Amino acid sequence: MTEEKKFDRKEEFDRELERVTAMAEQVVRSHLPKAQGEQAKVVEAMNYSVTAGGKRLRPVLMWETFRMCGGRGEEVIGCFMAAIEMIHTYSLVHDDLPAMDNDRYRRGAETTWYKYGDAMGILAGDGLLNYAFETALKALEYCVEKEDTTDREKLLQVGRVQQALSVLAKKAGIHGMIGGQAVDIAQEENSGRTPGEEQLLFIHEHKTAALIQAAMMSGAILAGASREQTGKIEKCAYNVGIAFQIQDDILDVVGDSRELGKATGSDAENHKHTYVGLKGLERAREDVETLSREAAAILDDFPGEHAFLRELVLHLIYRRK
Ligand code: IPE
Ligand code: IPE
Ligand code: MG
Ligand code: MG
Ligand code: MG
Repeated sequence: MTEEKKFDRKEEFDRELERVTAMAEQVVRSHLPKAQGEQAKVVEAMNYSVTAGGKRLRPVLMWETFRMCGGRGEEVIGCFMAAIEMIHTYSLVHDDLPAMDNDRYRRGAETTWYKYGDAMGILAGDGLLNYAFETALKALEYCVEKEDTTDREKLLQVGRVQQALSVLAKKAGIHGMIGGQAVDIAQEENSGRTPGEEQLLFIHEHKTAALIQAAMMSGAILAGASREQTGKIEKCAYNVGIAFQIQDDILDVVGDSRELGKATGSDAENHKHTYVGLKGLERAREDVETLSREAAAILDDFPGEHAFLRELVLHLIYRRK
């Protein structure tokens, strides 16, 4: 392939990424609650964190997996795209709290607790988690109200929504993100004892890969993927998620704070044990690449359209934000 051809393709990829991200952005915003009534302040704080920015990677991965698995329609998947971004954002809002990573800068702006105070930071996170499930549950109304659909098809669709909800709940909870964050905090407190690779991978798998798995698996499930296909997606998203967190640890050391929209050096300040600390920068970079290429190879087993999704997974190897 000539250099010119590659450049052409990169431009094409960038344009498509911009287009799909803008679509995801619009879907997420369309599901945000209105800041009104006595509780307007907490809703304002919730919406502040969501609209501050962010790559919208999880809803984009969900949408592209849905498409690859032959999914149709926009309402049901839209509810889940908004829900996963709300859950992810809540995880960031709480992650930044003084009692956790104590960070003041996120998505290019002041963190929620720093702007609204600790108490409102906690409540805005809680609000987002709960509203995520209110939003995902709305998908059921679309299934039932849908015209031109047989009762059998409606029943199938309700079953898929139930399955996707269950994956979302599990991967966000104690067997997923919350579990990982809890072990991350515990190992920081015992910073005298260095965790081995196994414990670090447990943390990465749960705190980060779990929500990426929830995103891609619910995209597959809502499209009607088989159990076997959903299992392959779970493995693919595991790789994407571990690579994503290793790269996050790398960027905390060598990244540019302005470009990232968050502080660098946060891990060192908090005495975190990171993948870079365990393996060194070079090995960490190699592992991001290996894991991502393995993930792309799993996608290649799928007959559905996935050229962009594949490029996206590979693009993340070199991400700088
Ligand atoms: C940051 O996630 C937290 C991690 C899981 C590493 P992102 O890097 O996706 O953050 P946003 O959504 O773009 O702000
Ligand atoms: C947090 O990991 C992952 C979450 C579940 C929020 P980090 O603490 O490394 O994420 P950043 O670097 O603050 O975004
Ligand atoms: Mg953290
Ligand atoms: Mg953090
Ligand atoms: Mg980090």
